[in-house]
Amino acid sequence: PPGNRYEAENATISQGVVESNHAGFSGTGFVNYDNVAGSYVEFTVNAAAAGTATLTLRYANGTTANRAMDIAVNGTVVAAAKPFNGTGAWTTWQSTTVSAQLIAGANTVRATATTANGGPNLDYLEVQT
Ligand code: GCU
Repeated sequence: PPGNRYEAENATISQGVVESNHAGFSGTGFVNYDNVAGSYVEFTVNAAAAGTATLTLRYANGTTANRAMDIAVNGTVVAAAKPFNGTGAWTTWQSTTVSAQLIAGANTVRATATTANGGPNLDYLEVQT
């Protein structure tokens, strides 16, 4: 079964805006990161039990430059400068995954842009436990 989906437009956003001008997104929109390093989206994820989870991030990147992001869980980077390569168009959405340990209860998952281009357009986080 699919995991629990957390829409980026409902997450905590630092230096980014919710938009809906590129079709194909889930929910009501996506987050357009500001084009600066350090811009981030942070999700609060509830886990029924501690254990390994697969985190799936769906995104679009209409440029040819990798918009790498650090993925941090509960404040610890679990995937440094993870690649978010070009998807060919802003309307072409792809997914990339990270494996991470969650604690029981509330967890934070933060995706922070590491380059001056900012992050890609981020659609959602899905969590499979
Ligand atoms: C374009 C595009 C945005 C995107 C931005 C960027 O403006 O329409 O959706 O976020 O480029 O380069 O970050």
